[in-house]
Parts: sequence; structure tokens; C-alpha cells
Amino acid sequence: MKIELVPSILSSDFSQLGAQAQQAIEGGGSVLHVDVMDGHFVPNLTVGPPVVRSLRKVIQVPMDCHLMIENPDLFIPEFAEAGADWISVHQEACVHLDRTLHLISSHGCKPGVVLNPATPVEMLTEVLDLVHHVLVMSVNPGFGGQKFIPNSLNKIAALARMRAERKLEFRIEVDGGVDLTTVGDVVKAGAELLVAGNAVFGHGDVRTNAAKLLEAARSATLARA
Ligand code: DX5
Ligand code: ZN
Repeated sequence: MKIELVPSILSSDFSQLGAQAQQAIEGGGSVLHVDVMDGHFVPNLTVGPPVVRSLRKVIQVPMDCHLMIENPDLFIPEFAEAGADWISVHQEACVHLDRTLHLISSHGCKPGVVLNPATPVEMLTEVLDLVHHVLVMSVNPGFGGQKFIPNSLNKIAALARMRAERKLEFRIEVDGGVDLTTVGDVVKAGAELLVAGNAVFGHGDVRTNAAKLLEAARSATLARA
């Protein structure tokens, strides 16, 4: 499985959004993560389809839209139309998760499902064959710059085992508190899509931060092999 850095624009300087996203990609980011919050499912507000549409004009890599919203079915068509490539929804927000994942696919996007820290991986048993990626939240969603929750490593490892046992191909993504001190452990546990907001955009040079994080992740893969 290929290790990829997925910069999250949540911690970027929004007055320089296009330029900062580009710098993160130049540093090695190969998918761009867009956090969408509605003030209901999570206690914060962020961006919607217009921002995805603007980024689409300047960003060549896939855009990974993480919907932290209630009733995601209402907005999936608009995110797809705006240029999202991957769309993930929270298991906790979807009463009809199977239908929602099919809705994402029917709009030409890759479907993903997200688990909050308190939700066990077993909640996904019946949909693992439908998803392109499973996103393990390693913080409670809503804010950047929070501390990594160590139990997430067990969930990543359990998903990797389930994938091997059932010969499935979904990818395992991790989101929250991924930085130079935690990235080695998440890679060793089996995550391969590494979302990072604060560690990339929070301080210093964006390009350098991205490059260092990706390098640390790749070194840990070598240690895993
Ligand atoms: C949190 C978001 C994350 C956030 C991660 O709810 O889903 O994508 O940007 O930020 P860091 O990497 O700062 O923990
Ligand atoms: Zn996210």
C-alpha cells in the first residue's frame, strides 16, 4: 500500500488558501483534505462547495472532502459537482449508510466512511466492500491541533486485519494529531493515507513541514517491512 500525505486545509491561512495548498502539494502532499463542518454534527463551522469549486481550478491532485455534517445526502451532489473526488461521511451521521455510500459512487466520487473515536470498527462490517477508504478519526472531530488518541492505533490495526482476512482493498486513512511524533506509529499500525493539518500549516514553512512529515512516514514504512 502506498503511503500518501493528505494535507488538511483546516489549519491553513485562508487568505492564502490556493497558494498554501499548492505549497503543501509541492512538499509531497498527493491528496488535499477539505474539512466540511456544519455547526450541528460538530461544534464548528468551516467551508462548503464554493471553496471546493475554487480550489478545483488551481489544484491538480484529488480532493478528499470529509463531511462532518448532518444529512450528508442533501449536499453530496453539490460537492461532486463542485469537483470533489473523494467524499467521506460519518457512520454516526448516516441512518442509511449503504444508500449514502451508493449515492456518492453514483455521482462519480470515491466513497469513504469515517469513524469517531468512540465508534468501534465493527460498525462497518457490512459496508467494507463498498468503500474506497475508511477514515479513522484519531481526535474528536471539529478542530485542528488536538492531541492524538492512542487507541486509534488499535482501530487502524483491526481494520488492516479485517481487510486482509476478507481480501478487500479499501484504504486506511487517519485524521487528527498526526505529526512527527505520531506518524511513525500510525504507519506501523497500518494507515496509509495520512491527514495532517496543524503539522503542515500550523507554523513555519509549509513545503518543508510536508516534506519532513512524509519522509518520517516513509522511514517508518521501511521499519514496518
Ligand atoms: C478535525 C479534522 C481534521 C483536522 C486535523 O475534525 O477532521 O482534518 O484538520 O487537524 P490536525 O492535523 O491539526 O489534528
Ligand atoms: Zn478531516
